[in-house]
Formats: sequence, C-alpha cells, structure tokens
Amino acid sequence: MNIVLTGGTSGLGYRTAKVLGQEIENKIILIGSNKQKGEFSVENLIKQTSNKNISFLQCDLSSISEIKSLAEKLKNTKIDILINNAGALFFSRKESVDKIEKTFALNHLSYFILTNLLLKYKVIKNGGRVVNVASGAHKGVKIDFNNLETKKNYNGWISYKKSKLCNILFTKSLSELTKKNKITVNCLHPGFVKTQFGKNNNSLASLAIKFLMSFFAISVEEGAETIIFLATDNSVKNITGKYFYQCKIKAPSIFAQNQKNADLLWKKSMSIIKNKGLTLT
Ligand SMILES: NC(=O)c1ccc[n+]([C@@H]2O[C@H](COP(=O)([O-])OP(=O)(O)OC[C@H]3O[C@@H](n4cnc5c(N)ncnc54)[C@H](OP(=O)(O)O)[C@@H]3O)[C@@H](O)[C@H]2O)c1
Repeated sequence: MNIVLTGGTSGLGYRTAKVLGQEIENKIILIGSNKQKGEFSVENLIKQTSNKNISFLQCDLSSISEIKSLAEKLKNTKIDILINNAGALFFSRKESVDKIEKTFALNHLSYFILTNLLLKYKVIKNGGRVVNVASGAHKGVKIDFNNLETKKNYNGWISYKKSKLCNILFTKSLSELTKKNKITVNCLHPGFVKTQFGKNNNSLASLAIKFLMSFFAISVEEGAETIIFLATDNSVKNITGKYFYQCKIKAPSIFAQNQKNADLLWKKSMSIIKNKGLTLT
C-alpha cells in the first residue's frame, strides 16, 4: 500500500511508520519540515524494518505554497492511506509565512489543504483511507468563527485545543464529501503520549509538559495503536466520519458533533486560503 504520513519523523508518526514499514509491500512517504531529521528517520526506519520503500519529502506544512508543491510532487502517486498527523503547540503567538496564526495554519489548515489538493488531483485511491490525528484536548472549548486566528489575548494551550476541535469538524465534513468515492475519513485521540510534543517551545511550559509526560504519559507504542488501527484494520474499512479513542468509536464534544459548526469551519477555511490566493475547487 502507498502511505503518506505527515509528521512521520518523530513521536507518534515515527512509531506508526515503523509498524507499517514492517509490511514489506508498504511504501511510506514521511513528511516533515526538518530535512536532516527526515533523512535520519528514513535511515533508521530502513534499518529497523528492512523496508527500502520508505522515503522523506521536506515540507513546512504551515506554508500554503510548500503544501502546494508537496501535492504537486505527490501527483503521480496513488495513495491508499493518508495520515494527517503533524502538529504542534505554540506557547507564544506566531504567524506562518502566509501571515496566518501558526497553530491554526499547521494543525488545521495543513490537514485541510493537503487532503483537498490530493483529492482534487485524484491522488487518493477510491476505497482509500484518511486518518486525522486529533486529540481529547478538543473538549472544553468552542470556536469563534469570526476569530479563528486569535488576534488578541492569545493563549497557546487554548489555541491548540481549538485546532484539535477543527480536526474533528474537518473529519465530519470531509467524510460526507468522500462517501461517493468510498474514501473513509476518521479521526482519533491517541491519549497523552510521551513524544517530542511541546519541545519546540523555549519556555517553562515546555519543561512542564516534559515533567507531566514523565509521570502521566503512555508510551508511543500504545499511543500509535489507534492510528495504525484506523489506517489498516479490516473492521473499520467501511466506517467513516467517526472519532476514535483506544480503537473504539467515542462521542466527541457536543460542539464537535454539530453539523453547522463543521459547515462553517469548511466555509471559513476555504475563504481564508482563497484570500491567500489558493482555490481548491
Ligand atoms: N503527544 C501527545 O500527548 C498527543 C496527544 C494528543 C494528540 N497529539 C497529536 O499527535 C500528533 C503528533 O504529535 P507527537 O506527539 O507525535 O509530536 P512530535 O513528537 O513533536 O512530532 C511532531 C511531528 O510533526 C512534524 N511537524 C511539526 N511541525 C511541522 C511543520 N511545520 N511542517 C511539517 N511537519 C511538522 C515534526 O517534524 P519536523 O520537526 O521535521 O517538522 C514531527 O515529525 C499531533 O497532531 C498532536 O497534536 C499528541
């Protein structure tokens, strides 16, 4: 199977690549922003799995033009499984090269743009799967659709929570659109997992995450189980539009279940990227 895995160079993504790479017929393309880290990951994964069909494409997924060139590079690949997993938490407010708040740009818009472009180019096979890594952190927040980029009073943790809520709303909308092509779209919470998550921040808060991880986080092996399950398990091949935790369907927050919210997020996301010069239809 042909698998594209964003954020495959560390944490949950790396573990997922390692397990899926053990099936020698799987061809895996890892996406990450750091070339050195990507090449190092490929080298290690090939050693660990003996699968030579593992490669890396560099892309800063917070940049619209870089996602566009990535999608162009993938145009001739027929993808069976797309795993949108790359994500980060930014304790201080940052903007992407497109001047979009970075949590929203990376954690939501990258899933939205990459998947839609690959669908537009008919690169995802009929009967294929899209897996969106969301989080249980989506609970306890709502989205103000007129303030998606939190221009004032930014709080990194709240913005992260909202971006993960976007992943679930996106899953809901996309799964309806891809039903005709029998492409399933599901999302998941991996649990609180010991990874490199939060380490991009030079602050006390990133030390706090590290501290919490050392006591409360589950292993990456356990955390990646639901991603691998949704990507490959036969029992979910006809299930779409759902949120999973520990390989079981769970109800996400009430806000995440609301169709109007999903529609509004879709409309606003389209309009934001259109203002930046990208049309997906
Ligand atoms: N760890 C947890 O407890 C937890 C809980 C719930 C949900 N999640 C979700 O799980 C996903 C994976 O996180 P993780 O915990 O495995 O974190 P991680 O170890 O920090 O891995 C993040 C991955 O994303 C890539 N990435 C980050 N920024 C990028 C960018 N601008 N462009 C392209 N790739 C980028 C990184 O590669 P580069 O450094 O090369 O860019 C790396 O491969 C995230 O979506 C996160 O929200 C994690």
